[in-house]
Formats: sequence, C-alpha cells, structure tokens
Amino acid sequence: MINLCTQSIRVCFTLNPSPACRCKCVRFLPFRSNISMFGTGKRTKDAFLWIINLNQIHLNQILMILKPKHYSFLLLCVGLVPFSAYAKDKTIDQKVDELMAKMTLEEKVGQLNQYSSSWATGPVSPEGNKMQEVQDGKVGSLLNVKGVEKTRAIQEIAMKSRLKIPLIFGLDVIHGYKTTFPIPLAEAASWDLGAMEQSARVAAVEASASGIHWTFAPMVDIARDPRWGRVMEGAGEDTYLGCAIAKARVHGFQGNGLGNTDAIMACAKHFAAYGAAIGGRDYNAVDISPRTLLEVYLPPFKAAVDAGAATFMNSFNSINGVPATGNAYIQRELLKGQWGFKGFVVSDWGSIGEMVAHGYAADAADAAVKAITAGSDMDMESRCYPLNLAQLVRDGKVSENLVNDACRRVLVKKFELGLFDDPYRFCNAKREKQALNDPQHRAIARDVARKSIVLLKNDNNILPLTTDKKIALIGPLGKSKEDMLGFWNVGWEDNSDVVSQFEGLENRVGKGNLLYAKGCGIDDLSKDGFAEAVEVAKQADVVILTVGERRDQSGEAKSRASIEMSGVQEDLIKAVCATGKPVIVMINAGRPLVFNWVADHAPAILYTWWLGSEAGNAIADVVFGDYNPAGKLPMSFPRSEGQIPVNYNYTSTGRPAPANGSIAPYTSGYIDMVNTPKFPFGFGLSYTTFKYDNLKLSANSIHADQTIDVSFTLTNTGKRAGEEVAQMYVRDLVASSVRPVKELKDFQKVLLEPGESKTIHFTINKEKLSFFNNNLEFVAEPGDFSVMVGASSSDIRLKDKFILQ
Ligand code: NOJ
Repeated sequence: MINLCTQSIRVCFTLNPSPACRCKCVRFLPFRSNISMFGTGKRTKDAFLWIINLNQIHLNQILMILKPKHYSFLLLCVGLVPFSAYAKDKTIDQKVDELMAKMTLEEKVGQLNQYSSSWATGPVSPEGNKMQEVQDGKVGSLLNVKGVEKTRAIQEIAMKSRLKIPLIFGLDVIHGYKTTFPIPLAEAASWDLGAMEQSARVAAVEASASGIHWTFAPMVDIARDPRWGRVMEGAGEDTYLGCAIAKARVHGFQGNGLGNTDAIMACAKHFAAYGAAIGGRDYNAVDISPRTLLEVYLPPFKAAVDAGAATFMNSFNSINGVPATGNAYIQRELLKGQWGFKGFVVSDWGSIGEMVAHGYAADAADAAVKAITAGSDMDMESRCYPLNLAQLVRDGKVSENLVNDACRRVLVKKFELGLFDDPYRFCNAKREKQALNDPQHRAIARDVARKSIVLLKNDNNILPLTTDKKIALIGPLGKSKEDMLGFWNVGWEDNSDVVSQFEGLENRVGKGNLLYAKGCGIDDLSKDGFAEAVEVAKQADVVILTVGERRDQSGEAKSRASIEMSGVQEDLIKAVCATGKPVIVMINAGRPLVFNWVADHAPAILYTWWLGSEAGNAIADVVFGDYNPAGKLPMSFPRSEGQIPVNYNYTSTGRPAPANGSIAPYTSGYIDMVNTPKFPFGFGLSYTTFKYDNLKLSANSIHADQTIDVSFTLTNTGKRAGEEVAQMYVRDLVASSVRPVKELKDFQKVLLEPGESKTIHFTINKEKLSFFNNNLEFVAEPGDFSVMVGASSSDIRLKDKFILQ
C-alpha cells in the first residue's frame, strides 16, 4: 500500500494485505519515532508497516536503524516513492533557510507583525488596510479572527502574496472555545491535572477545527493578590501546583504535537511576573527580589518550556524598572538562553509601543529597537515593528540577524503546523460543524465543572439535598447564562445553550418545582426585590442563594480595591437568612471574595466560580450529591483586603504571630485582625470525611542524591465515596536564607469508597529541597527539614522530620 499524503509522506508496505495494515499516529520528533514497524517476525503472515516521514528524516538515517534483513523491503519502498517526494526530504531548518533567502527585509519584518481583527481585546489602533498588508506579505499573524469561513477567506488573501507565506490565526482560547469550561482558577481548584489537560484538549479540538492555530494560553502567572482581576485566568498562588498545571495545559493544547490538525500552539503568558503587579492594579509595575522572581514566578514558565510550549507572550509590566517586553535578561538570557526555548515570543497587546508611556523608550522606533534586542519576536498590535524595523536595520540601528532570528522562529512554527503544505488544513467546514457540536465535549465540561466546585462550609450536613424538598433559588445569578461563561470565554452570538443554575436545578427537581426570585441585581443598591425574595424563601424548605460577581468584575483590567460582594447582595442574604429557613450560599466569582458575615452565618457555602457552559448541571450534580465535591482552594481567601497578600507560604519572621492565629503583642501581625486567611490554600470539604494516619518516612537522613518515600494511610471514614486531595508540605528549618513556613511539594487526588483505606506515597528529592541562595544558585542545603501531610495548608494531620546530610 502506498499512501502519499501532503503533510507527511507515508510509505506503507505490506507483504500480506491481511491482517489489515495497522496505521499508527506517530509523533515526528524525535527522529526514531518517525519509523514504526509492526509485526511478530513471521514475514509471510504479518504485515509490516513502515511509516516514514520523509519531510523530517534522511534515508541514510533510516539505513542506520534498519537491519540487513529489512533492506530488500526498504529498497522496494524507496523505489516506489516518486523522486519528487524524496526531494522534499529537507529539514524544517533547510526549508526556512531557502525561504528566507528569497525574502526581502520588509517581508521578514512582516512575519513579525500581528494585527487584530476589528474585534479588539485591547486598545483599538487605527484600522488601515490590513487585508492589503496581508496580500503584500506585511503580516505574519492575525488575532481575533475565528471560524473556517473567515480564516479561509483571509488565508486566501495571504496566498496571493509574493511568497505565499501562510498566516497564523491566534485567539484567546483560555477556557474553552465553543464549549466553555470553568475559568482556569476554578479548574485549578479541581487539583485534577488529567481533567485540566482534557479541558485544554477539547478546547484545542474545537478551536483547531474552526481555523485557529494558536491560543494565548495557558496563563501561568502566579497570583497572590485577589484584587488583581486576572487571578481568574491562572492557577492561583502556589508555584508547585502552578508548574503541574502549566504542563497539563500545554500538553492539552498541543496534543500529540504540532502538525496534527487538532493541535494548536500553546502560549505561556505573561512573561514575566505580571501577577506581582503592585497593589493588584492591572498593568502596574513589579518590584521584586531576584530570588522571588526565580523561585516563585518563573518556574511555571520553565515548566511550560519543558512541556514543549510553542510560544511565549511577554507582559505589560516592568520588572524592577525594566519593562518585560524590553527585558533582555528574562527573554534572551533565561528563556532563549539557559532554558533553550526554540519557539517565538509575541508581545502582549501594544506592549512594545507602551514602553514609551513607561518612559523606557523615547518613541516607537526606540521601542522597536529595545523590544527586538531584548528578544520580543512578534509585535502584537503596537505597529512599532512594521513601521520602523526595516528602516532601523537599514540605518544600522538594529542588526539584521535579530530580525532573521525572530523571523526564523515564526517560520519554523508555520512549518511545524504544516501550513506550508496546506494553508487550509484547519479550514474544514464539516469538521468544524462536528467538533463544535460534539455532545462528548459538553459531558467533559460538566465533569470538569463539578470537579472545580469547592465546598467551604456544610453545617449539620445540610448538603446534599434531596429532590423531595421544596427548593427556592434566589439571587441575581440564578437565571444568568452570560455570567456563567466568565470573562475570557470566546464570544458567540447565541449563548442559549449555556445551562443556567435555574435550568440545572430544575432539570433535577422537575419542571415547575423550583421556586425563584431574583432579589436584586449584582451591583444594585435598591432593595426593592427583597420582599418578593423573602416571600419565596418562606414557601420553601431550603433556599439556595446565588450571588457573587458579574462576568466582567474579574478579568483583564478588572482590578478591584474592594473584593466584597458588590451592591446589596450581602443584605439580601441577611434578609433571607432572617426567615429562619436553611440557606445554602453559592458564590460565583472570578476571584477570592471577602464575605465574612456569610462565612460566619450561612450554614452551607459552595464556591462555584464561573463554571462555563454546563454550570447549572454541574452545580445540580453537587447540590443533590450525584457528585461528591472535592475541590480545594488554589488561593487563600482573605478576611479583608488589608491582609493581602495572605498566601500560605510566607516567610517566617523574628516575631511570628502565634500559631493558633490569635493576636499577640509585639508579634508580626495586626492589632485589629488575625493574620490567618478566612479560608486557607488547599482547603475544601467533602460530603465524607478522611482520616490520615500511619506516616512513614523511608529514611530520616539522606544524602542529596537520595530520595525519601513518604507514605501514610488515607481512609474514607464517612458513608459516601469521595475524593481527597492529600497534600505534602516541606519546611527547611534553618537555611542561609529565610525560608517559607511551608511549601507544597506533592499532592495526590485519591478516590476512596466508604471505609476504604489506601497507602499514599509522596517523594522527596533534592529538587524539592532546593532554593535560590544568596548567590542565586539553586541549592539544597544540608540540615533539618520538616515534612507535613494534610488536608489543606492549615490542616496538617501528620508531621515528621528528616535530615539532609
Ligand atoms: C491582552 C492580554 O493581556 C493577553 O492576555 C491577551 O492574550 C491579549 N490581550 C490578546 O487578546
């Protein structure tokens, strides 16, 4: 059988057509994986299938790994391959060399230029004649265009350009494409890496079927200030968890590797330290110690590189006085140097030009010099590159090598995506229709959504409810579909397929059986709706109050000085609680909110974030116990904005506040509030309970090249099956630099039947004990360490010590 595909030429040879030739998807790198041979050795009976990606490898390399007995088959295969096909046997680098040799300087600069469609996700720039520029080869990529029809039409224009270099279409596919998944912070609360990878995978399957080659995700910024609206987009406050999630999401988006038509390029953003914006104000400066930068904020980016992220996006903020976009240390020295990143870096929207407003560049031309020198390869929407870069090269102010390097990085990705073989390979209308209507995607979204819910309180096991109870749903978010989608959903004209909370609950209790009152709007100051809400509550056995944030209250440029519930929502809760009816408060938000009265008075609280298309169904699953909630907070919830930052892994002081969280004189704390958060990192309840015991360390003293196995028994002591996220924290007790009081170093999500026990194992190794010392060397210092295992950062159940020799 000979099968010559356009993308990767497959030579399939079978001695015996039966059994059927087994085709297997192979990843094109590393080299050896390009060749697969199947068979048991009995040639006459078995089929041999050789899949040779002739775009990637050389014949002599093939010969090196084949045994002489295979030569005759190989010769036959090669004889069957048309010469023209073999002539295509060039590496991507060679192809890029050839193409770049034909390119003018302007065309190279064109590859570094990215425009948005008129659907803007940043300050709008003058429109100009973008399509003419596409045809003139002056644009390398477009963002904010979606759908097969539109992307094909624009790609056709790009194909009229002199060198027919295809465009890359990028989009913020942050938490789903057509099927909207929970916001990333919510997904992080699932601590379920498989679920997060799957969510990104579905997003990639849908987006790639709809003409998209590139998502601007994952956002891997560590964020410890809930006033910052973009906490919704990341994985929360912890670096260890953030690294694991960064990897999972990159793998999800890129699937089996670029070149597969269901894989889209991931983009780790925002490089770097965007989450440390002073005061939680978006776009603000970052003033950070080199150690904190290296230890807390950069590791998730490194994890993204290690996971194969194709691209990076830099950030708006300055870092210690140097805008990230013009920061050669992080982009050239670290990312492209020490970390060996081979992809390309896109600026954030307009961030090259914004270096003028920063006071770091004199004008757009100066900004272009500084950005390209620092390693920003592609200019998103600032126009500094297209308007200045070629002239700067001609004037000798920018080395053409810098432009060549950036252009090469972009072209390599276009080749890897297969766009030179077929610029329309992501433009199949039939596939788009199928992918965007796949019911399986909705089922996965529902599963991820229910896994993201965190049960914060459940006095007297009021939850789960039984369907025979008369339930009232009260609150501004009860019938909302829009708000369930969260800030970074991809915009669609019709959101009627989103399952509102009312619909989800009504699906379970039966049509007409769910009482409802809105009570107030999200930020209404009027209490006019309270009377009706109270009346409805009185008719019910139990009330579910649904409050929180509107979808535009968290997200980009949505920093809030006050993170309490807006408007009269808390008053509504008080009014309904005053009826004496049992109340379950359901808080939907893009960030940790402050809600002390509710936390102290409401018998049950579910933190449901913004859960996406299947929000209502997922919530109903948890409310009625079809799913036992297992989410744990990926960020600490403060009692007051005045406590921020309130992350669990703070460094110790010479006068630590009492461990029980009380206020004591002459200790590091406040006189009017304890230091502890209202709800700590890693916290979340279940409808069952878990016991931790029998902690064992395989050794109490190790050398740096040895590991410790930490094991313990986890038992489900309740009456329902449930999942527990068991967490291991470590503290370096004495070190040359003051270390955090605890740091997450492993976790496991475990499903246990009632009464079931499992032995859980965690590993401690040198890397987990290392930190950046005062010379910024990553070292594990000998000495005593404490190891803590528990159900949250403040619910440590088991403790021991060990020594690193
Ligand atoms: C600005 C945001 O900071 C970034 O995350 C996003 O990808 C771009 N706009 C494009 O929408």
